[in-house]
Amino acid sequence: MKKRVFSGVQPSGSLTLGNYLGAIRNFVTLQHEADCFFCVVDLHALTVPQDPVALKENIKNTARIFVAAGIDPEISTIFVQSQVPAHSELSWLLECHTYIGELRRMTQFKDKAKKHEVVTTGLMTYPVLMAADILLYNTDLVPVGEDQKQHLELTRDLALRINNRFGEEVFKVPEPYIPPRSQGGRIMSLTDPAEKMSKSSPNPKSYIALLDSPDVIKKKIMSAVTDSEAAIRYDEENKPAVSNLMVIYSLCSGKSIAEITAQYEGCGYGQFKKDLAELVVETLRPLQQKVAELSAPGAIESILEAGAAKARAAAAPQLQRFQEKLGLR
Ligand code: TYM
Repeated sequence: MKKRVFSGVQPSGSLTLGNYLGAIRNFVTLQHEADCFFCVVDLHALTVPQDPVALKENIKNTARIFVAAGIDPEISTIFVQSQVPAHSELSWLLECHTYIGELRRMTQFKDKAKKHEVVTTGLMTYPVLMAADILLYNTDLVPVGEDQKQHLELTRDLALRINNRFGEEVFKVPEPYIPPRSQGGRIMSLTDPAEKMSKSSPNPKSYIALLDSPDVIKKKIMSAVTDSEAAIRYDEENKPAVSNLMVIYSLCSGKSIAEITAQYEGCGYGQFKKDLAELVVETLRPLQQKVAELSAPGAIESILEAGAAKARAAAAPQLQRFQEKLGLR
């Protein structure tokens, strides 16, 4: 039997090159070997304030980007989280098995809580909803970037805890699928290589949005921080900014880091950045064209309706099984 893959992306702004290289690109590869569910996790986006009109558009755009990046809706299931109520239902049942201390320890919660004046309960229980997303589908493999590692560990802990309680496999314990940093597991900010590239950054120069125009992409890459050594070599510790640009170069060109190092020996950063900008523009061009095509009225909506129906059918037995175990129904 094919492995089951599940992953989700928040529609909380314009998706970035980090989302693409760290996660979405791998969704596209995995769909040929596994039974895949890819979800626009709109309920997760609500953990911080959202403008309803913008959210609605971002939900559709995230789904368009999935398809434009190469996820085939005939092969994979693409859907919106809030259209499958079982996610919220299972989330509550899992919350009743989660300790507050576990959620307080989540580094992403601690970071986000610092950035927002009002911290909602949803921001804290967010990883439980993520566990529900994954466990509902009997998931074997979860392709994500490095920043989601701790959330996946919680998901595994919850599954094991519940399986232990009932003395049988109520939930499958999922495995993470996280690329190493040199292969996109953590794409860093263009303005601060100590931070990950993030769509929620207040500084748009720090990230490349997948729908940025060629001009904007070029400007952002040309002004990306580097260092004073002016040598193109991979050294995550001492040259994090240049190493990050080399990872992006490698993933967009298919060339290895060693090939890139050899190619740019003796070159300054100017030529390297110019070539990189061109590569990123050409990598995103077909994706952007496809997103424009999918913006025709109804095009993405019909894909999402079909996806939600498939997801509802796939999720129902697992929720029912757990409800019965708990003495409900
Ligand atoms: P989100 O929406 O922040 O990011 C979507 C995916 O992109 C990856 N990612 C990155 N990878 C490499 N470098 C970066 N700079 C970078 N920024 C983001 C993320 O790791 C993620 O894989 N909680 C999740 C969404 C979610 C989910 C799930 C994921 C909800 N339910 C169930 C998997 C399974 C999140 O906020 O991702």
